[in-house]
Amino acid sequence: MVRLTRVSKFYPGRPSAALLDVSLHLPPGQFVYLTGPSGAGKTTLLRLLFAAESPSRGEVRVGGADLGRLSSRQVPLLRRKVGVIFQDFKLIERQSVFDNVALTLRVAGQVGNGLAQRVGEVLEQVDLMDKAQVAAGTLSGGEQQRVAVARALVGRPPLLLADEPTGNLDPQAAMEVMRLVVAAHAAGATVVVATHDPKLLTMVKGARVIHLEAGRLRETT
Ligand SMILES: Nc1ncnc2c1ncn2[C@@H]1O[C@H](COP(=O)(O)OP(=O)(O)OP(=O)(O)O)[C@@H](O)[C@H]1O
Ligand SMILES: [Mg+2]
Repeated sequence: MVRLTRVSKFYPGRPSAALLDVSLHLPPGQFVYLTGPSGAGKTTLLRLLFAAESPSRGEVRVGGADLGRLSSRQVPLLRRKVGVIFQDFKLIERQSVFDNVALTLRVAGQVGNGLAQRVGEVLEQVDLMDKAQVAAGTLSGGEQQRVAVARALVGRPPLLLADEPTGNLDPQAAMEVMRLVVAAHAAGATVVVATHDPKLLTMVKGARVIHLEAGRLRETT
């Protein structure tokens, strides 16, 4: 599902590499935790996987496609296959919860009953059906994060990336979000969760743990 081959990432004006010579293979259906201290390169690695950054060196492949060779028209097609849950979840605050979640499907060309049904299903899953018509900006932080999770899952992406998905949440809300991520994995998705919260690591038995330190990768399981 994901293959990085000798990937390095240098940001302009930064002397040290954000990622250095990272090689990594994630087979389909794997659940992976990406750990490491602040500045280790976790977010950078995730951003490479949905073509939000390009590598300075090396090759990034997702679902067989070499992201370095994608045309700008192919990038949206890649992003339909990748669900992303980031800490700054960027909801459209004035739009309803429903419309925020539906957007993913609408850009993929889906309309009508099928769309409404699928959005309803996912809002049910994240327990926000009763808030479907409420403007997203009026929800609590935990509720907004659940909308972001719903938006990431609605298209049933084969690859799910979560960057500190529980960072701003109380323990209960954090459990809820992780339960949804685990459910997506159970339904077949390949999942990468970046976190420095050791509590999260215990939530998925047998998960792979990958550690980054100053841009270098090390397996810990
Ligand atoms: N857009 C950018 N421009 C310049 N430098 C950047 C940029 N993004 C990240 N960096 C640098 O790259 C390194 C890795 O950053 P990254 O955000 O990937 O770390 P992280 O492991 O996600 O950290 P955290 O746990 O704090 O989120 C850091 O030194 C950071 O300052
Ligand atoms: Mg980060």
